[in-house]
Amino acid sequence: MKGVNALVFLVSWFSVLMMSNGADTINSTVPLADGKTIISSGGTFELGFFSPGTSTNRYLGIWYKKISSDLNVVWVANREAPINDTSGVLKVSEEGILTVLNGTNGVVWSSNSSSSVPNPVAQLLESGNLVVRNSNDDNPDNYMWQTFDYPSHTLLPGMKLGRNLVTGLDRYLTSWKTSDDPARGAYKYLLDPRGYPQIVLMNGDKEIYGTGPWTGLRFSGSQGLKPNSIYTYGLVYNQVEVYYGFQLINSSVYSRLVLNPDGVVQRLTWNYRTGEWNVYLSMPVDNCDIYGLCQGFGSCNIGNSPVCGCLDKFVPKYPRDWENADWSNGCVRETPLVTSDCQRGDGFLKYPGKKLPDTRNSSYNGSLTLDDCHKVCLENCSCMAYANSDSRNGGSGCLLWFGELFDVRDLTENGQDLYIRVAASEISSTTPQSGTSKKKRGKIVVALPILAGILLLGLGVALYFWKKKKPRQQEEPLKWEGEQNGMLDEGREIAIKRLSKSSSQGLDEFKNEVICIAKLQHRNLVKLLGCCIEGEEKMLVYEYMPNNSLDSFIFDKTRSRSLDWPKRFNIIKGTARGLLYLHQDSRLRIIHRDLKAANILLDIDMNPKISDFGMARSFGGNETEANTQRVVGTYGYMSPEYAIDGLFSVKSDVFSFGVLVLEIVSGKKNRGFFHEDHQHNLIGHAWILFKEGRASELIDTDLSNSCYLFEVLRSIHIGLLCVQQSPEDRPSMSSVVMMLGGESTLPQPKEPGFFTKRNMFSEEFSSSNQTLASANEISITMLQAR
Ligand SMILES: *[C@@H]1O[C@H](CO)[C@@H](O)[C@H](O)[C@H]1NC(C)=O
Ligand SMILES: *[C@@H]1O[C@H](CO)[C@@H](O)[C@H](O)[C@H]1NC(C)=O
Ligand SMILES: *[C@@H]1O[C@H](CO)[C@@H](O)[C@H](O)[C@H]1NC(C)=O
Ligand SMILES: *[C@@H]1O[C@H](CO)[C@@H](O)[C@H](O)[C@H]1NC(C)=O
Ligand SMILES: *[C@@H]1O[C@H](CO)[C@@H](O)[C@H](O)[C@H]1NC(C)=O
Ligand SMILES: *[C@@H]1O[C@H](CO)[C@@H](O)[C@H](O)[C@H]1NC(C)=O
Ligand SMILES: *[C@@H]1O[C@H](CO)[C@@H](O)[C@H](O)[C@H]1NC(C)=O
Ligand SMILES: *[C@@H]1O[C@H](CO)[C@@H](O)[C@H](O)[C@H]1NC(C)=O
Repeated sequence: MKGVNALVFLVSWFSVLMMSNGADTINSTVPLADGKTIISSGGTFELGFFSPGTSTNRYLGIWYKKISSDLNVVWVANREAPINDTSGVLKVSEEGILTVLNGTNGVVWSSNSSSSVPNPVAQLLESGNLVVRNSNDDNPDNYMWQTFDYPSHTLLPGMKLGRNLVTGLDRYLTSWKTSDDPARGAYKYLLDPRGYPQIVLMNGDKEIYGTGPWTGLRFSGSQGLKPNSIYTYGLVYNQVEVYYGFQLINSSVYSRLVLNPDGVVQRLTWNYRTGEWNVYLSMPVDNCDIYGLCQGFGSCNIGNSPVCGCLDKFVPKYPRDWENADWSNGCVRETPLVTSDCQRGDGFLKYPGKKLPDTRNSSYNGSLTLDDCHKVCLENCSCMAYANSDSRNGGSGCLLWFGELFDVRDLTENGQDLYIRVAASEISSTTPQSGTSKKKRGKIVVALPILAGILLLGLGVALYFWKKKKPRQQEEPLKWEGEQNGMLDEGREIAIKRLSKSSSQGLDEFKNEVICIAKLQHRNLVKLLGCCIEGEEKMLVYEYMPNNSLDSFIFDKTRSRSLDWPKRFNIIKGTARGLLYLHQDSRLRIIHRDLKAANILLDIDMNPKISDFGMARSFGGNETEANTQRVVGTYGYMSPEYAIDGLFSVKSDVFSFGVLVLEIVSGKKNRGFFHEDHQHNLIGHAWILFKEGRASELIDTDLSNSCYLFEVLRSIHIGLLCVQQSPEDRPSMSSVVMMLGGESTLPQPKEPGFFTKRNMFSEEFSSSNQTLASANEISITMLQAR
C-alpha cells in the first residue's frame, strides 16, 4: 500500500473544466486543445491534458473516465516536456503524425512514426489504446501507430509486455520520477528473452528482481500469480514475438499492472464498494525476492535466519564472510567436478520446490522430455542444471543452464524440480533421484566386464614386454609416490617428493641424475634443493611454490578469472624461456618429455617454474634426437612421432609447449575437449577456427573483455606453429621466444599433428598390439613394441 499512500494528490486534474466533444476521434482539420477531451466509445477511457498531483504542469494523457480516483492515469505523451500553461494542443498531421504543441507552436512531443496513411484519424479505443489509422480502415493490423506500443508505467489488458523479434520493438514499463512528475524514473519492468523468457525489474542498469522463467502456468518465482476470477494471463513465445499479457474476465472489473515511482510493481484492481484501487499483488514480496541475494549456487529461504544458504552439496566460498551475512561470493561445490571426465564422472541430483535460476545463460527446447533433457545436459560438460520448461500436465520441455546458478529460492508452494550436476561421488552417497539412473546402472553393468577384460589383456601385454625389455632399465623414469611440504630449520618452506620404492633405477644413476638436475639454475625452473637417500627410500627436496600448478588455475572456472591475459602471457613467455634454457643454454641438452600444465608451478607472483624433470633425458653436446623403448609423457601433450614411434627430440617438447599455449589461451584441456560440431580435440578445434579466420572464438570467455586481442591471437598462431605435424616444421624454442617477443612475422602453420580422432591413442595402440594405458590425466609410462 506504500505506493498508493505515497500518491496523495492535492490538486485534482478534474478541477480543470473538461469539455468532451462527444467523439472518440480527432482528425487533421480539428486539433484537440487543452480543456477538451475525447472519450472512448464505451466511456471507459478519456484522452486530454491534465496536471498530476500537486504539479501545475500540463501533460497529454489517457485516464479512466468512469471511475474517480487520483491514480487513474494510464498513459502520458510529453513525459519529459511539460507545458507550463493551458495553451497545449494535440494535432494529427496530414501524414498521421501526432504532435503536442505549446502556446508558441513549439513541438514538445511527437509520435515520430516514419510511415504514413491517407486520411488519418486518431481514435481512442475502448481498451485505452490511442491509435492512428486510415479513417476507412479499422483493421488493427494496419494501425499506423498506437500507444500500446509505447507504454508508460501501466500495463492495461490487451497490452503486450515484451518484444517483437522481427522489428525489434520492445515494450516495457518505466516508472514515473515521482507521483507529481511523469518523467521517466529509475525503474523499468521488462521482458528479457535471452535464454528463455523471464521478466525483470531494473533500477537503472541493475537488476533488482526477476520473476524467474515462465513455466506454463506462471513465472517460476512469482508466487501470487495464479489463475483467478478477475483476469487471465499468459506468455506468447514464437518466431515473431515474445510477450506477457492479460485479459479481463469481466470487462467492468478493472485490473491493471503499475510500476510505482519507488520501484514496486503492483497489480491494482478497482473496488466499486470502497471506490479505491486495491493492491491485488505486489512484487518484490520479500527479501528473498532481491535479485541473486545469495549469489551463485546459493538458495534463499525466507523461513530461515539468515535467509541465505547454499544448495545441498555446495558450501560457502568464503565461510567467514558467509557467517557475517556477506553473501557476495556465493557458494562452491563441496566436491569439485572432474572436468576431464564429466560425461561419465558426473550425475544429477534433484532439488525440489525451487524458484528456477535466472535463465539468461540457458537454452531451451520445448520438444524434449525430461529424460532427453538429462541426456543433453550430461553430454555438454558446461551444462550445470536442467529442468522441465513447462510444468503443466506432469512436465514437458527442456531448460538447460550453463555456468553458475543464480537467483534460486525455496518456495513453499508451486516450486519446481531442478536437477543440478554434481560429482558422481555425491550421487553414490545419496539415493539416486534422477529419472534416468536406472539406465545408467544398466550401462555400468555392461561396461564393467569389458573394462576388466581390457585391463587384464593390457596387463598381460605389459608384463610380456616388461620381461622382454628388462635390460634397458636406465630408461626407467623416476616415479613419484607423493608430495609433502615441510619446513627447514631456518624456516624456509620446502616441497618434498618421495620416489616410488619400486623404481628400479640404480643408486648411482639416481645420484647422477639428481646432481645433473641440481646444476640447472634458471628463474623459470623449480630449484632442487637437495635429495635424501636412505636404504630404499629416496626423496627430492624442492623449493616450495605457494600457488601450486598452472592447471589448478586455467581449468578452474573461478580461479581462472584471477589469471588475466598479462599474467597468462607472462606464464607463456616464462615457460618458453625455461624450456629454451633446458634445450640450449644449459651445459647439458635436456629434453623435458613431460611438459604440461600440471608441471608448471607458480610462485607467489605467478611466475612460472617448470618442474618434474623425472622423465627428462640429457644428451651429449651434439646429440639431438633419440629413440626410446619407453614412451613417457602425458596424453594430450605428446607429439605424434614420440607417441607412435618413440622418437623424441627438442621438437617433441616444442609440440607439448604448443598444446600448453592453446590451453592457456582457451582455458580448455586438449585432452577431453568436446565440441558438438566435430570430433576434433582442442588442437583441431583451434586449427579449424584459425583457418576460417575465427581464432578469436577460441579465447577463454574470462579473457573476452581484455584489450590484448592482438597478443592473444598471435599466441594462438604461435601455438599452432608448435603443434605442426612434422617436427621439422616446428620452430625451435629460440624462435618461439623471439616470436613471442613480437619480433618477427609469423609463417602460416601447416596442419597440426594429432588433431582428428579424440580416441586416437587407444585406436593406434590397440591396433599395433601395444600396451593399453590408463586414460587419466597422470603421466604415463608406455612400453613400445619394436
Ligand atoms: C474532421 O472532423 C470534423 C468534426 O468531427 C469534421 O467536420 C470534418 O469533416 C473532418 N475532416 C475530415 C477531413 O474528415
Ligand atoms: C512558461 O515558459 C515560458 C518559456 O520558458 C516562459 O516564458 C513563461 O513565462 C512560462 N509561463 C509560466 C506561466 O510560467
Ligand atoms: C514551446 O516549445 C519550444 C520547443 O520545445 C520551446 O523552445 C519554447 O520555449 C516553448 N514555449 C513556451 C511558451 O513554453
Ligand atoms: C521523437 O524523436 C525525437 C528526435 O529524434 C526524440 O527526441 C523524441 O524522444 C522522439 N519521441 C518519441 C515519442 O519517440
Ligand atoms: C461484471 O461485473 C459487474 C460489476 O461488478 C457486475 O455488475 C456484472 O454483473 C458482472 N458481469 C458478469 C457477466 O459477471
Ligand atoms: C552469464 O554468463 C556470463 C559469462 O559467463 C556471466 O558473466 C554472467 O554473469 C552470467 N549471467 C547470469 C545471470 O548468470
Ligand atoms: C529440439 O530437440 C529435437 C529432438 O531432439 C530436435 O529435433 C530439434 O532440432 C531441437 N530443436 C532445437 C531448436 O534445438
Ligand atoms: C554446450 O552448450 C553451449 C550452449 O548451448 C554451447 O555454447 C557449447 O558450445 C556447448 N559445448 C559443447 C562442448 O558442446
